Amino acid sequence: MSEFFEIAGGTPLRGRVKVGGAKNAGLPLLIATLLTGEECTITNVPNLTDTSLVLHLLEQFGAQLEYDGDTVKVETPKLIATEASYSLVKALRASFWVLAPLLARGGAARVALPGGDLIGARPVDLHLEGLSKMGADISLKHGVVHALAPKGLKPAQIDLTFPSVGATHQLVMAASLVPGRTVITGCAQEPEIVALADLLNLMGANVQGAGTPVIEISGESGLHGATYHLIGDRIEAGTYLLAGAISGGEVTADGIRPEFFGAFLDVLREMGLEVSSTENSVSVKSNGRLKAVNVKTMPFPGVATDLQAPLMAALTVAEGTSTIEETIYEGRFGHASELARMGAKIKIADRIATIEGVSRLTGAPVDGLDIRAAAALVLAALAAEGRSEIHELHHLRRGYEHVEKKLGALGARVWARVSDPDDFLFAGC
Ligand code: UD1
Repeated sequence: MSEFFEIAGGTPLRGRVKVGGAKNAGLPLLIATLLTGEECTITNVPNLTDTSLVLHLLEQFGAQLEYDGDTVKVETPKLIATEASYSLVKALRASFWVLAPLLARGGAARVALPGGDLIGARPVDLHLEGLSKMGADISLKHGVVHALAPKGLKPAQIDLTFPSVGATHQLVMAASLVPGRTVITGCAQEPEIVALADLLNLMGANVQGAGTPVIEISGESGLHGATYHLIGDRIEAGTYLLAGAISGGEVTADGIRPEFFGAFLDVLREMGLEVSSTENSVSVKSNGRLKAVNVKTMPFPGVATDLQAPLMAALTVAEGTSTIEETIYEGRFGHASELARMGAKIKIADRIATIEGVSRLTGAPVDGLDIRAAAALVLAALAAEGRSEIHELHHLRRGYEHVEKKLGALGARVWARVSDPDDFLFAGC
């Protein structure tokens, strides 16, 4: 039995949607609680399968948890393990970040290398080089990173040759528990990095410059508990704004700061949408047919790679020919062939997708094979003529909570269904 969405397209979405806490901040922040033995409370935590996975991971390292509504209390008096297995890291790539707290607090860690995935090669060389500069003795055996720092890590000057979000999270976490001044240049500037720095500062570290390329960390030999309210999810918000756009409607995303979108809101304006914002919400209003644009995904404040697939869905029905260059992950165009099954005209050459807008998509059964690809197909189905089925829904559930409820409140006709394996036995012959 597996879950899928049935969507009847063609209704313009109208109304307000409250976005949840940012998954991409929630995961590293929950992992950062391993840096202290005291209780940390994180509120506005989204109810997602990725959240459940990270909580399960924390328990394996000795965390005692209380999860009530959107509030998580974590206390890890003692680290009881030093290893994150391949099955864990494979299920949740963010598990790789446990390397920093295990090493900085416990002096030893063994964490499986994540390897590549559907969206491309996902190296971790910058994480490992940075930790080596901080004095960790790192070796690779049988696909597992062995890291040792029996006498503790030391402060360092680290230059990241690419503003990797993952490496910035990892190194800022480690440096927070190292007495002395660590300076990291070439840092990622995403809002989720600022969120991590804010939590670490509440825990007693002194992290300055988050949100800029240079972060200075004056670490402490011990950190204490803290309470932190998670920032809103800019990717979830952007997906709902695009749902309003592709369906020819008017949608306001509440619970998100406009500055978290970087260049994305300018792209929406270029597509002919009316965009307005308050301190904690962003609205789009459709103004006739969408217009084609040429965009490139880039590190923040550029257009986020996580919004590339939903944006492509919207451009399939824009007037004219658009291009999207994916500069972050070379393999992140898996959704294009599924969109084509709904009538989209997309050509991929190397890292560039050329999208010739069609006047309408037609509903079809499709598979959403990663979180954002699945979101793109949901958007396409909302605009398509007739009914669509979005399968492999577990991917969508990793990054979007209560999707059918939120879309339904905006007027979409979406039903979560469960497929009967017998259907496929007959259909598959
Ligand atoms: C990336 C996105 C992030 C998004 C996430 C999930 C960027 C900059 N980051 O974060 O916004 O939420 O995917 O979709 O857009 N790299 C190396 N060596 C390393 C680490 C990374 O070469 O040690 C390269 C990667 O191959 C990739 C780029 O740097 O091309 C971005 O990596 P990174 O930001 O670390 O990836 P994520 O943390 O997964």
